[in-house]
This record gives sequence, C-alpha cells and structure tokens, in this order.
Amino acid sequence: MSKKIVIINGSPTPGGNTRCLCEAVLKGVKEAGNEGIIIDLASLSIAPYSGPSQAEDDMSKVTAEIRTADAVVIASPLYWMQFTGQLKVWMDRLSTVGKDALAGKETALVACAASPAEVIEKNLLGYYRMCFIDSLGWKDMGNVLAGGVYAPGQVMGMPYTEQAEELGKKL
Ligand SMILES: Cc1cc2nc3c(=O)[nH]c(=O)nc-3n(C[C@H](O)[C@H](O)[C@H](O)COP(=O)(O)O)c2cc1C
Repeated sequence: MSKKIVIINGSPTPGGNTRCLCEAVLKGVKEAGNEGIIIDLASLSIAPYSGPSQAEDDMSKVTAEIRTADAVVIASPLYWMQFTGQLKVWMDRLSTVGKDALAGKETALVACAASPAEVIEKNLLGYYRMCFIDSLGWKDMGNVLAGGVYAPGQVMGMPYTEQAEELGKKL
C-alpha cells in the first residue's frame, strides 16, 4: 500500500527556495510510488494560539491531512535564525491537536538560508529534533539544509534539489 506524505511549507514566498525544495521532495515521493501534498501555510488562515476556546480556522484542514499521513516533512527558510512565523504558529497550534492525530509519524527537515548550511544546522536542526523527534516522538528520516541561497528560486539547479528528491524517495 502506498504511503501518504504531507509537506508543510512555512515559506510565504511563491516560487521561493523552500517551495522549490518541497516540489523536489514531492517528485521523489511520487517516483517512489507514494502520494504526497504540499501545504503552503501562508495561503491558509491559521491564527496564533489563543487558548482552549480558539475559534475554528484552517488549522483543522491541515490536521485532517496530518491525521492520515505516514510522514510529515517540515520545510522553512531561516528567518532571524529560526522557523518562519507561519511555521511556528502552526507548531503552537499543534499543542491542541489530539495525540491520536500526531502519533507515529516519520518526519524530515528541509530548510534554506542565505547563510551557509552550518548556520542552519546550528540554529534549526537541533530545534527541529527537540520539537518533532524528542517531544512528538516522530521518527527522523533526514534533512536537506540548503545554505547560500537568497533570491527566490536560486536553489534550482543546485545539488540541494537532488538531495530533496532523494529524501522524498526515502520516505
Ligand atoms: C524576514 C527574513 C529573515 C531572514 N533571516 C535570515 C537569517 O536569519 N539567516 C539567513 O541566513 N537568512 C535569512 N533570510 C534569508 C532567507 O532565509 C533566504 O532568502 C531563503 O532562501 C528564503 O527562502 P524562500 O525563498 O523560501 O522564502 C531572511 C529572509 C527574510 C525575508
């Protein structure tokens, strides 16, 4: 039976580097005979966590996709040494999602930054591991850290897109 991979894109930039890497992951997913979708958080309406009586918004659509997913790929550019606000807001809202919907997923990190890859590794990789591997108990399937990319789409034609495709095949 084929697997379902949900790719959470935290970049607000259409055609940006993160989106390009998400598409490369998706290509690999499909080449491996699995199904996948990219969710662009910036195109959805997801309000910051505001307590237990939070109003319904697009978070429920994302959660519905995750509930049936085998793997969830976390994708974001480095913004001020961290995930984007869109990604972090979604993470905060995960705290209200029932354990059943989040249980037993595989995961991977795809990130890009103007700085070298070591800066992404230092600032984001450990944080990703603390949140998704240590706290949620998801299984780490790897990462692509695309350093030295700034202009939207600059990552195309760089080895990072092949790495992202290979990561997609592994999921
Ligand atoms: C608000 C903002 C903050 C940024 N902060 C960082 C940073 O802390 N370190 C870094 O290396 N690049 C930083 N960048 C550059 C982006 O990470 C880089 O341009 C990335 O390729 C953008 O990905 P995207 O095309 O998917 O949006 C920042 C860009 C913006 C717009």
